[in-house]
This record gives sequence, structure tokens and C-alpha cells, in this order.
Amino acid sequence: MMAVIFAMPGNEAITSSLARISLSEAGSLETRSFPDGETYLRFQSPVQGRSTMLVCSLHEPNLRILPLLFAADALKDLGATSVGLVAPYLAYMRQDNRFRDGEAITSVAFAKLISRAFDWIATIDPHLHRYRSMSEIYSIPTVMGHAGRLLADYLLGKKDGVFLIGPDEESEQWVSAVAASAGVPHLTMKKTRHGDRDVSIDFSNLETFRGLRPVLVDDMISTGHTMEVAVRHLVGLGFAEPVCLAVHGILAENAMSRLKAAGAEVVSTNSIPNPSSAIDVAPLLAELVSPCIHI
Ligand code: R5P
Repeated sequence: MMAVIFAMPGNEAITSSLARISLSEAGSLETRSFPDGETYLRFQSPVQGRSTMLVCSLHEPNLRILPLLFAADALKDLGATSVGLVAPYLAYMRQDNRFRDGEAITSVAFAKLISRAFDWIATIDPHLHRYRSMSEIYSIPTVMGHAGRLLADYLLGKKDGVFLIGPDEESEQWVSAVAASAGVPHLTMKKTRHGDRDVSIDFSNLETFRGLRPVLVDDMISTGHTMEVAVRHLVGLGFAEPVCLAVHGILAENAMSRLKAAGAEVVSTNSIPNPSSAIDVAPLLAELVSPCIHI
């Protein structure tokens, strides 16, 4: 029987593409909030004896996690044979250590919650920095795809005039992969984070690239302060309008308008719905979910 795939609120567009490409049935899920804010869920498509998937990009995760866990629980209660999570963007991967005494390692706590509720998870470019793989913290089968090839494809046709910059050492894995696929030069900067909205970046060796357009590549743009500092510096040096190219455009706290005001063009995938999403990850997600449907 065909697997059935449900969109959590806000994920309808990518779910419908994913259902079409992966030959799954797009299921119908009614969701609403009661007047006191509690969540109401009703699956309107039959799930008894079927493989099921919930699609939920986990930006602003605290708003989304409880309805998502309720939905997974309901699918099992209604007799689904398996319940997978397709999270184009997976949150809570950056607190991967106890940096200061007493801190919660929320990546581990979040992974435990998800692993108890789902049979498998598929995601794109999770923020793996101190963890080498998701299986270090997730106890269910995990599949992950890389959007580097898609970012490189986006640069095709522009590649003779650009060079890539990773704004910090954590971005090296993404910028080097995109640079290799696109066949363009790259370099990586060193960033110091002083606070959530306060970073400084040590720029060097940029003179070699004079005359080329800078493309800043990172896995995510969150508050956008990392990109904004880089853009202002590059514009100040006289480089052409930088492109901020990221897999995940979280774009919290008016990041888009601040980056535009700084002189940047912002481009991301549609792993999170936003006005910068020019790169479609639905075909990549379809490749990931196909082998999971029968788990
Ligand atoms: C950090 O490790 C990530 O790769 C990004 O550089 C970071 O999350 C960006 O954050 P923000 O946009 O808030 O500066």
C-alpha cells in the first residue's frame, strides 16, 4: 500500500512536491488551536496498517515540537505501521556540548524526544560540528542529504566571476563542498562569537580575489549577524554586492531586511519557507525518504 505523507502546518508546499516525487499519498491532517492554545489534531486519511511520514521543518522549534509529538503519537495510536519524520531543517543541533558549567545539552535532550516518538528521521544538512554523525545522539535510523550539490548548481553560470567565503571554521565543510562541485576558489575565515547577536570575523587574504563577486556560504543564516558582519566588511573593501548563500534560511529577527540594507543578495533553499528560497530540496528529500518508507 502507498505510504501516506502529512504536512504539519506551514509545510504544505514542500509536502505536496515530496508526495508527488516520492509517489506517496498526500494525506489530510486537520489542525487547529483551542481558545486556550491547546492543539487539536485529526487525521482525515486512513493510516491503519500504513507507512506514514510527517513533514515538519523545525525552525522556531518550541512552537512546533509539541503538536509534532502529538501527531506522531496519534498516528501510532491509529494503527500506522511506521511513523517517519521528514525535517528539512532539524533544530537543536548547535548546543552540542556543555560549554559552561550547568548548561543543558539540548541537542541530546531533543534527540531523545524525537527518537522516542518516531521510527526514522530524514533531514538535510544537520549542523554536525562536534558530532560526527546523527547516530551519536539519535537512536532511530537517520538519513541525511547534502544540499551542497544544489547550491553549486545555483552558482552555475555565475562561476567565472565569483569566489566563495566560509565566514567561520564551522562553515568549512559546506563551503569546501560547494566550491569543489562548482569548481570555484574558496577560503574560510575565523569567527569569534561574543554573544547571540555579536560576532567578529578575522578577514585575511582577500586581495587575491579583487574583481570577483564574493559568495558567502554557510549551513544556516539564523539571526544573520554572521553574514551581516561579513557583508559590511566586503562592501567596505569595495567588493561587488555579496551573495549570502545558505542551506537553511532561518532569517530570525528581520535578518533579511538587515542583510539587504547591508548590501547583500540572500539565497537559500526552501528547507524553511522564506522569501529567499530559490533552491528546491524536494527532489533531495524524495531520494532520502524512498528507502525509509518500509522501515
Ligand atoms: C554556526 O555555527 C553556523 O554555521 C552559523 O554560522 C550560525 O548559526 C549563524 O548564526 P547567525 O546567523 O545568528 O549569526
